This record gives sequence, C-alpha cells and structure tokens, in this order.
Amino acid sequence: MSSKSALRSQQQHKVFMASSEDYKICVVMVGLPARGKSLIAGKAMRYLAWVGIPAKVFNVGSYRRHATPQPAATFFDPHNEEGERMRRAAAEAAMTDMLQWFHDGKGVVAVLDATNSTKERRQWIYETCHKADIETLFVESICDDEDLIMNNILEVKTTSPDYKGQDPELAALDFRNRIRNYELVYQTIDDDEKNYTYVKLINVGSTVIINQIKDYLSSRLVYYIQNLHIKPRSIWLSRHGESEFNLTGKIGGDANISERGEAYARKLPELLRQSGVPANTKIVIWTSTLKRTIQTARHLKAETGYEKLEWKALDELDSGVCDGLTYEEIAEKYPEDFAARDEDKYNYRYRGGESYRDVVIRLEPIIMELERSENVIIVTHQAVLRCIYAYFMNVPQEKSPWMEVPLHTLIKLTPRAYGTEELRFKANIPAVSTWRGKGTSAKHQDFPAEGAEGAAATGAH
Ligand code: ADP
Ligand code: F6P
Ligand code: PEP
Repeated sequence: MSSKSALRSQQQHKVFMASSEDYKICVVMVGLPARGKSLIAGKAMRYLAWVGIPAKVFNVGSYRRHATPQPAATFFDPHNEEGERMRRAAAEAAMTDMLQWFHDGKGVVAVLDATNSTKERRQWIYETCHKADIETLFVESICDDEDLIMNNILEVKTTSPDYKGQDPELAALDFRNRIRNYELVYQTIDDDEKNYTYVKLINVGSTVIINQIKDYLSSRLVYYIQNLHIKPRSIWLSRHGESEFNLTGKIGGDANISERGEAYARKLPELLRQSGVPANTKIVIWTSTLKRTIQTARHLKAETGYEKLEWKALDELDSGVCDGLTYEEIAEKYPEDFAARDEDKYNYRYRGGESYRDVVIRLEPIIMELERSENVIIVTHQAVLRCIYAYFMNVPQEKSPWMEVPLHTLIKLTPRAYGTEELRFKANIPAVSTWRGKGTSAKHQDFPAEGAEGAAATGAH
C-alpha cells in the first residue's frame, strides 16, 4: 500500500474506533440456565466483530468442564459444598483470563457468559472489574414460558458437551433438575443493584428494562440486544439481475438491467417459491434506490403483492472518481489506487467514494432493522450483499470483500440456535461474472449456468 493510502486507512480506522478505544466493557450475562444467554452473547460477538470492535466471550461453563466435564444436576445443588467450590473456581479462572485479555490490550468488549445468578456473585464481578477500570453491563434474560424453556433444553442442552453420549430424554430431565437447583438461590437484579448499568429482557424482549446506560458503545449493544427475537424466519439475498454496466464491465452507475437481467427478474418469484416459503408467510421486499434493484424486484412485487421498501443505505459502494470505469481503466488511470485497493480492499476508500468499512457503518441501521424484522428478501448490489452476508455468516473483514456472490443466484439464510443455515438457488439464466481476483484486472466473464439445486452451508455465530 502507498504510504498515503496506508495513512488514510489508519485514520479511517481511528475515527471509527475513537468512541470505543479508551473503553473496556465487561458484558455480564445473568439468568437461569436455558434463557438464551449464550445465544445472545454469541450474536453480540458476531455483531461486534462485524463493526470491527475486538471482543471475546469467556464462558464459565467451559472452564468448569475442565474439571467436571459431565456433572449431574446434584453438582449444582447449592448445598453441595464441593460443587460450589468448583463452580467458584471456574468463575475465578474465567475472570482471571478476562482481566489478562484486557490487560494485554486484546479487546474492548468481553462477555462473561455464566448464570451470575446471585447478588453476591454480581457484586464480586462489579468490584473486580471496577478496580481494573472496566465498565460492567449486566444483561439479564428472564423467561417464564415453560414450553419455550423445554424447547430450548431439547434444542441446545441435550446436545451440549455436558450430555454428550447420554440419552437425550434423561439429559433433558437432568437439565430440568439443574435449573431447579439454580432456582433455589436465583436473585433477579433488583433495586439494591440500581447503581449497576443493566438491561433486563423479559420473555425474549417483550418487556425491556434499561438502567443507567452511560456510554455510546453500551447503548449500541443494548439497542442491538433488545432488538433480537427468536421467531422462525428466513432472509433471502439477491443481487440485481445483470445490468447494462455489468455487460461492459463498468462499475457503479445507475444502469438498467439487461435482457438476461430482465429474465432473472421474471424468474425471481418462482425461484423464491422453490427455495421454500412456508404457507401464509409474509415477506417484505427491500431494494436499494438504484434502478437495477427496483427493476429486479418489479415482478416479485407485482406477483406476490408483498410490501416493498427502498433504502438509500442499500445503494452500491460508492466508487467516487472511478464510477463508470472498468477495472482495466482504473488500473490504467489510477495504478497506485488500484494496487492499494488490492492490498487492503476492506479499508481502501475510493477517491471521493467509499470503502467496505464505510459501507458496513452505513449498513448498521439495516442490520438493526433486520434483527427486528421477520421474513425479508433483499435485492441489492455485490459489495453491499457481501457486507450483509458477512454479518450473518461471520466472515472476517479481510475475506468479505473477496467473496464470490454470483449474479442470478438467490441465497436463503435461516437463523438457527447456534448459527445461520445457508442455501443457494441458481436461476439457470446466464450472466457475466463481475468477480475480480486479487492482482488481476480481469474483464468480466460469462459464467456457465449451473443446476438450480441449493448448496448448503452453516455459519456459526
Ligand atoms: P443459556 O446460555 O441461558 O443457558 P442458551 O443460549 O444455550 O441458554 O439457549 C439457547 C436457546 O434459547 C435457543 O433455543 C434460543 O432459541 C433460546 N433463546 C434465545 N433468546 C432467548 C430469550 N431471550 N429467552 C428465552 N429463550 C431464548
Ligand atoms: O461490478 C458490479 C459492482 O456492483 C460495482 O458496481 C461495484 O463497484 C463492484 O461490483 C463492487 O465489487 P468490488 O468491491 O469487488 O470491486
Ligand atoms: C456451568 O457450570 O455450566 C455454569 C454456567 O456455571 P455458573 O453457575 O457459574 O453459571
């Protein structure tokens, strides 16, 4: 990278981190087992990684597993002194590692993922963090829906390492008893703890109580966490149909879709049905404000009558002075910039335009809205789609700008308890490939149309 663009990308990074770099936050999960604490912690991690904030989960259960890999419910009986001692030791080991991690400057947000279900335990965490200049944010998940809890146990607990190789029915019964033992001593966060910063999520966020949020990062985290829901749903992602600019290899612009792009637009309603839409499911269509995405969604809107929203935030990455040029022309006119982009594609900002990092920042409200929403199909552009996909599939920043997301392909993402399931459906309508490998100024190529079967993958959070 030239020294100028290296400096520019460092400055961009600094501006973004300025709100958080002096801060250390320990997010302390609170609640009985099977209340979604690990799921919330995992999603918060994925969100923070996506916005570029270094973060790590310290899960007390995994520390406890070193010494006690498969405890029976009696291990968690508050009268079991040996059990209490070992659980305390596990919490201390997690805390020691967390403090060291902060001390080594490795991160900004740590999540202490445990039940932390007594006032005494929370006070110890608060005081220990306070002494080390670490802010605490307590996140309590409360849920009294017995069916949901049983469902959670069957979904995630019977397959946890705590019960590996055991009969699932007996495991579920034992886990129920484990929860009963926790209930004997559980104290919800109450008025005695008014000096703590906390958020209480009651029955998956149907009621939310927020107390004493002091800084910007905590408020963003709380806003994110309070938007999470667990209703079954999918999110479909599609690039617009092939455009006139795609045909000539030009980037940016506001071109119409090509004939083949129009064929894809006509096929999109059928492709969506083929991907599996449960009966009576309402889907909302989101497009950018550019013609090629609106034209691509036109038949889908007309045939289904689904509601449609146009978002400026979904417009393609702004390529500034390079808008309307081909990669070859950019390499010729701005060779230094072309090389700098290849060297650090995520941070490189086009002259007068945007970087991938800039796009992620403008997409943050889109992600918040997506978390609140149920079924959505997003018709957008190559770079924007890469960023949204990277959020759901936890793709690292240095990889996401290089991902292949072909035209005329529908991606169906379905959030599951511990990750996002992915299926891809090809429309079998030929289109150019707009993908360019590092170090090449390759012309856009035709890619062969392949079968319409979905290819599956899962991205853990
Ligand atoms: P914990 O860490 O509290 O023991 P997990 O995160 O392992 O619980 O539980 C995951 C399960 O909890 C998933 O089935 C998920 O659908 C469900 N879940 C997620 N969020 C919540 C919530 N706020 N309240 C209750 N259940 C939830
Ligand atoms: O070529 C299609 C396109 O959407 C351009 O408009 C955009 O500049 C480009 O893809 C983004 O992809 P990349 O970051 O790989 O250049
Ligand atoms: C555990 O041992 O699985 C565990 C979560 O411990 P704690 O009670 O400290 O939350």
